[in-house]
Amino acid sequence: MSGFHQRVFSGMQPTSTLHLGNYLGALTNWVAMQKTHECIYCVVDMHAITMWQDPADLKRAIREVTAAYIAAGVDPKQSIIFNQSQVPGHAELAWVFNCVARLGWLNRMTQFKEKAGKDRENASVGLYAYPNLMAADILLYKATHVPVGEDQKQHLELTRDIAQKFNNDFGPQIAEHGLGTGELGFFPLPEPMIQGPAPRVMSLRDGTKKMSKSDASDYSRINLTDDAEAIATKIRKAKTDPEALPSEEKGLEGRPEAENLVGIYAGLSGSSKDAVLKQFGGGQFSGFKAALVDLAVEKLSPIAVEMRRLLADSTHIDAILGAGADRADAIAAPIMREVKDIVGFVRSR
Ligand code: TYM
Repeated sequence: MSGFHQRVFSGMQPTSTLHLGNYLGALTNWVAMQKTHECIYCVVDMHAITMWQDPADLKRAIREVTAAYIAAGVDPKQSIIFNQSQVPGHAELAWVFNCVARLGWLNRMTQFKEKAGKDRENASVGLYAYPNLMAADILLYKATHVPVGEDQKQHLELTRDIAQKFNNDFGPQIAEHGLGTGELGFFPLPEPMIQGPAPRVMSLRDGTKKMSKSDASDYSRINLTDDAEAIATKIRKAKTDPEALPSEEKGLEGRPEAENLVGIYAGLSGSSKDAVLKQFGGGQFSGFKAALVDLAVEKLSPIAVEMRRLLADSTHIDAILGAGADRADAIAAPIMREVKDIVGFVRSR
């Protein structure tokens, strides 16, 4: 995307402990993108309260997610790590976007339907407007690339629609203030970066359901805080089918549990499903699972240990979030001032 400075933005909700889906779907890609991009990684605490959160638990979860980012390899000196509520522009831009996005667009969001369930009337207004806040998170920094798991694709399409409509609706004002980037408009249309062999990690108990924090069974997921013992037990108990592993990716079709475990192995080893099947194809699950336990423990245990070390000093974590918020605000505030000029607000101080 020429014309815009290349910038990465992504975030995770501090609603409970992060799991292997968050790690393979997003976090490993975040770490990799630091090598090539300016990166901003946010702990989206304002998104978290769209569903009820106990305030003490929320504080703990914000620090824990921050520790997970760092333990997994996000470098707070290089990349910006902060919590959303410390930068006021997120809420300000979200309001503008509440007035840009159309009801019909939000009505299509499958995540709202899933989360609100049958009791739609009782869902918070925040849960409904959530995708507008997510668009604001990204566009407040004019981010061009957004590394996420597969489940966020629809929200990113909405973000692009909002950016496009803002650019169109305010085209003359953008030009008048000299704020457009050529033909491209004021906001970039950010690219979703849905990458790697495990963009959608499934439950270990049911290969047709997404691995999720909200699943009642802890055996459905591997938490980033799990110790070696827990990781091993969960993988050993993971659902499989009676067939041997296929030798090619095609053979995984219609075998969701096999596909999921092979994807997890590929994600953790930094290879591809094909490469994993070259090694394990024709073998039984017992041998493959034993290798997966070793690999998962080797990759994930150091993260849990480092998280525990970091969490012992919450002052240090809070200092990182504060410094990150200052850096984030330094990028966001001038963009937000321009948005206010474009929209027609009077700024007299
Ligand atoms: P959240 O907190 O649900 O998830 C954080 C990231 O983890 C990915 N993910 C998964 N990837 C693969 N398999 C899974 N089972 C799995 N579960 C979760 C998600 O795709 C996500 O990348 N709305 C976002 C947070 C957000 C955000 C943003 C993201 C708020 N503002 C701006 C990007 C840019 C969410 O609820 O993610």
